[in-house]
Amino acid sequence: SPSSLVDRFGREVSYLRLSVTDRCDFRCVYCMSEDMRFAPRSEILSLEEIYQVAEAFVALGVRKIRITGGEPLVRNGIMQLVRQLGGMPGLDELVMTTNGSKLSSFAGPLREAGVKRLNISLDSLRPDRFRELTRHGDLHQVIAGIDAACSAGFEGVRLNAVVLRGRNEDEVIDLVQFACDRGIDIAFIEEMPLGSISEHSRALAHISSAELQQIISRRFELEPLGDPAQHAGPARKHRVTGRKSRVGFISPHSNNFCHLCNRVRVTAEGRLLLCLGNEHSVDLREVLRAENAGPATLRSCIDHAINLKPEKHHFTHSDEPDIVRFMSATGG
Ligand code: GTP
Ligand code: 5AD
Ligand code: SF4
Repeated sequence: SPSSLVDRFGREVSYLRLSVTDRCDFRCVYCMSEDMRFAPRSEILSLEEIYQVAEAFVALGVRKIRITGGEPLVRNGIMQLVRQLGGMPGLDELVMTTNGSKLSSFAGPLREAGVKRLNISLDSLRPDRFRELTRHGDLHQVIAGIDAACSAGFEGVRLNAVVLRGRNEDEVIDLVQFACDRGIDIAFIEEMPLGSISEHSRALAHISSAELQQIISRRFELEPLGDPAQHAGPARKHRVTGRKSRVGFISPHSNNFCHLCNRVRVTAEGRLLLCLGNEHSVDLREVLRAENAGPATLRSCIDHAINLKPEKHHFTHSDEPDIVRFMSATGG
């Protein structure tokens, strides 16, 4: 059945990205500053509150929930929530985006709990560089996590690589090969200007999807999989000829996919964000914690908020961030 959440531009919102924590065991250079400050515990939704938010969205017509962070697997008790969501009537697809650091132990339980697909960040296959890009990450641990995910029986596993000029664009071929060897997908993502990072110049680090595609085409034949309207999500997908793997390009700068946008986000603090590239939000925590407000009040608040979804984002290449909120607040 179609979602009852339809915005002013006729877009049906059927997909919720639900951040369960703003914390992370990594500090990726494009996502966080070195000395990130995290929200105090009291401002973070409880697992029960997060479940209530999910229930309200599903009652209104959301059919897909992606659990994000920060890093979702650092949230205490996360499996309890995942199991509850995995059994929620009306929810067709439960998926997660993770940095992979804890997957060697979590991959099996996540699959058993009903998670269908995983997206796992991987920007480099060189241990030293991986450490530089994530500041805290251990490449071998993440590869062990990816391999655990590959054997856990998910319907899909996809790698996410944010490519920065001068840092890891020379690994694009190796990353595609790594995905092909495992029969999983990979998406290359243009860096987005969220949060004030100082570690590199975003203007200089920008490298377009078109350029990456050209680099990859020197080694692999890519067949476009058709109009993105036929696929969910912002990635323009290609099949690697003769392989199971698909290569996607997520190009917030060079290819505007806003007209197909079917999603909204809720932060760990319960802010409903109507667009990744826009600061405006509606406070659901206030409603969740109000004395006399029940599920109907929450649903009506969400229903009204959908009218505020902007038509599109306007990212620039400037080193002044367009959005002061860090990427980790919404998990992308
Ligand atoms: P699906 O949920 O299957 O569509 O995957 P996804 O690519 O949306 O999810 P993922 O969490 O792996 O995010 C990959 C990248 O896409 C991240 O950098 C996200 O910030 C970016 N992304 C996801 N949704 C949007 C969006 O609506 N707008 C923009 N600009 N970027 C998005
Ligand atoms: N621009 C683009 N992608 C980003 N991610 C984190 N920060 C940024 C950014 N500034 C990616 C991560 C993860 C996904 C959820 O978002 O690599 O895979
Ligand atoms: Fe953590 Fe993901 Fe941000 Fe890296 S991109 S710091 S893994 S939330």
